[in-house]
Amino acid sequence: MKKKYKLKSSVYYFIGIIIILIIGINFGIKKYQEYQYQKTNEYKLTSMGYTLEQAQTLMNTLTDDDISYILTLRFDEQILNLLKEKYFIKDKFKEYYDYYKENKKKELKDIVAIINTKTNNEYYSLDLNTDMDKGYAILVNKYYKLDSSYEPDDLISVKMDYSWGEYGSVKVRQIVMDKFLDMWNAAHEDGIYLMISSAYRSYSEQTTVYENYKKDYGENYANKIAALPGYSEHQTGLSIDIFSKTNSNRNTFSESVAAQWLVDNAYKYGFILRYPSDKVNLTGYQFESWHYRYVGEDIAEYIHNNDITFEEYYAYFLDK
Ligand code: DAL
Ligand code: ZN
Repeated sequence: MKKKYKLKSSVYYFIGIIIILIIGINFGIKKYQEYQYQKTNEYKLTSMGYTLEQAQTLMNTLTDDDISYILTLRFDEQILNLLKEKYFIKDKFKEYYDYYKENKKKELKDIVAIINTKTNNEYYSLDLNTDMDKGYAILVNKYYKLDSSYEPDDLISVKMDYSWGEYGSVKVRQIVMDKFLDMWNAAHEDGIYLMISSAYRSYSEQTTVYENYKKDYGENYANKIAALPGYSEHQTGLSIDIFSKTNSNRNTFSESVAAQWLVDNAYKYGFILRYPSDKVNLTGYQFESWHYRYVGEDIAEYIHNNDITFEEYYAYFLDK
């Protein structure tokens, strides 16, 4: 009887030890897991004040480098709003945020546009060679330049019916001629007679244009209306200055029926109003109601429907 009791108590003792061991191991595992979790970005972000969902959005969208950067900042819901911006580009996160820190009064939409178009940089300070592989969608502006010797190999002279000056003085690329004629016919049916005043300009012709403006108006104003040689879209052969037979006045053309017709219809033929009145800060040029650029129908339609500049389109869709 005594022996039996002894055996029973040692079994209980043994079970007790096992239970304690299991509890202990479980506790240890839990503690270890907790310790491991505390090392994760999810833990660190949620500890900063981000919800689990927000932390996951940040981690799924941004790089580890960006997350490490966020961990050095204070909780800021604007970071999540930034990610929701339509033209937000992941690789530019730090640039956006650094710019935002200095410009908190600006809307996030504008901050994204400024960084995407590089207009936070001084004009002509980047000196980037434009990517010629982009075909009709090459970007030429105050940051992206063409080689001084660049001349398109399919330039043709615009007939006197559609251009002013001597025959041979107004040239465009073949595609521009074809599309312009389609557009010309459509405008003509609506009672508008379109005319091209200036199109392809060589590097040296652009030098003359720029220098003349500089002489007449001073450097500051010249820079708002003309590009430095190498930086003009006119050298691409894809840009045309369009007026109408009845109005070729730069000061009043924007109010003409022809100018409005172009605003409403040019995109159907692949042309965009390149320097709109409300995008001066993004294009770097004053409103030019006459300057149209061929980019192709698809791009032109998108730009027209979404009211963005070619710079913004290029950064988001093409600059890969
Ligand atoms: N007027 C435009 C900006 C040019 O000079 O290319
Ligand atoms: Zn022009």
